[in-house]
Amino acid sequence: MDMHDARQDGPAITQTYPGLDHLMIEFNQMKAFLDDPLVIVEADGVRVRDHRGQWYIDGLSAVAAVQLGHRNRPIIQAMTAQLEQVALALPLYAATEPAIALAEQLAKVTPEPLTHVKFTTGGSEANETAFKLARQYQRQTGHASKYKVISRYASYHGATLGALAASGGAARKLAFEPFPTGFVHVHPPDCYRCPFGLAYPDCGVRCAAIVDDVIRAEGPDSVAAFVAEPVIMSADGFIVPPPEYFTMLREICDRHEVLLIFDEVITGFGRLGEMFGADLYDTCPDMMTVGKGISSGYAPLAAVLLSARVAQAFWGEAADNVHFNAGHTYAGNPVACAAGLEAVRQLTNGALANGQAQGARLRAGLDALAARYEQIGRVDGHGLLLGVEFVSDRAARTPWPAAQLLCRAVAQTAKRNGLIGRMGDHIFVLAPPLTSTAEDVDEMLEILDASIAETLETFPASA
Ligand SMILES: Cc1ncc(COP(=O)(O)O)c(C=O)c1O
Repeated sequence: MDMHDARQDGPAITQTYPGLDHLMIEFNQMKAFLDDPLVIVEADGVRVRDHRGQWYIDGLSAVAAVQLGHRNRPIIQAMTAQLEQVALALPLYAATEPAIALAEQLAKVTPEPLTHVKFTTGGSEANETAFKLARQYQRQTGHASKYKVISRYASYHGATLGALAASGGAARKLAFEPFPTGFVHVHPPDCYRCPFGLAYPDCGVRCAAIVDDVIRAEGPDSVAAFVAEPVIMSADGFIVPPPEYFTMLREICDRHEVLLIFDEVITGFGRLGEMFGADLYDTCPDMMTVGKGISSGYAPLAAVLLSARVAQAFWGEAADNVHFNAGHTYAGNPVACAAGLEAVRQLTNGALANGQAQGARLRAGLDALAARYEQIGRVDGHGLLLGVEFVSDRAARTPWPAAQLLCRAVAQTAKRNGLIGRMGDHIFVLAPPLTSTAEDVDEMLEILDASIAETLETFPASA
């Protein structure tokens, strides 16, 4: 069947944008996308405007990336100035001034043991790089048999083969199986619906203790690294671990000489109210991957931060051949690094503190909504990464059935009313820019409140 003929709503949008018939956007069924198309043509501060002229509050900072708001003049100026200097240098033979300066800044703002930086262009690539670094590190420090990477079900570490192999959600993975071997999964630290049927604190934090069991079962001599998103897992569900979780993971990893990698692609650069998720739990990884907010979303940029101990294994004479023999054309691109430098400058000069304050305001407002709507089972999260879970029975924590997803309906109504948040089946996520004002936050809450009320007027009473 001709794809164009199959469309239900006629070709109106593709008359305006004929190119839409040739485009595949991220994670989307394009036929469904064309039924309710959205083309963003302009953005300013916390707002974006679509092809019809409607403005929305971007309650997602694009994809938890644009921490410092849209059309941020100093970032645009820094990038423009760098474009005038040099847009792409000689990645195989030369460093650039913005990359050098940003590496120095990152060593200052990340937890202290992290001292060295390997730039990449996106979060998936950063995780691939971290896994390769982990394997090579183990090989070069007398543990050549250590190669496996342990991660959690329900995690998301990226869309490339290795990063997806480490990720947990079956729905994103099945079409691409089989994956490379050497990736092992454990259940996530989900206190709202404990996979072990236990309740905190009597559970003994089984979700962390099980990592020790799994490393022993796999054979400690075969395990190179454990990778986890610190604090919040937001790709499949909205999972916040008990307070001891990361300290316990750190001890378990040390016990078995397993490198601990924090995937801070989404949680880094102020998203959780601290500069990094690691700061919230006072646990430092051996490597940290970052992306998204590192350039405030203005240019493809990501990185792996290495502790001095890990980095040391890659320093030697040329003949020793211990260097990291990998790279990417656009890794550490000077224009992207110029954006990153300005983003870090703004974060450390007020934006982080404002994000913290607005995160507390948004959280208080969402808690107030939860007190009024029994359909809200919980509000969770940190800083400006907050999730609202809709349930059909709050006491039993029962999700709405697939045919009747209240959360999706609320999210659609909110979008119509001018607020874009993440439209999950059960969890509505808000991750607005750290530069949001108190008025912006209040407006988000008003729209969400009105959208829940409007949706409930026509929604079946219970599942
Ligand atoms: C925790 C986490 N890791 C990795 C990635 C992949 O990053 P990218 O989409 O830049 O490749 C994402 C993307 O959402 C993420 O949230």
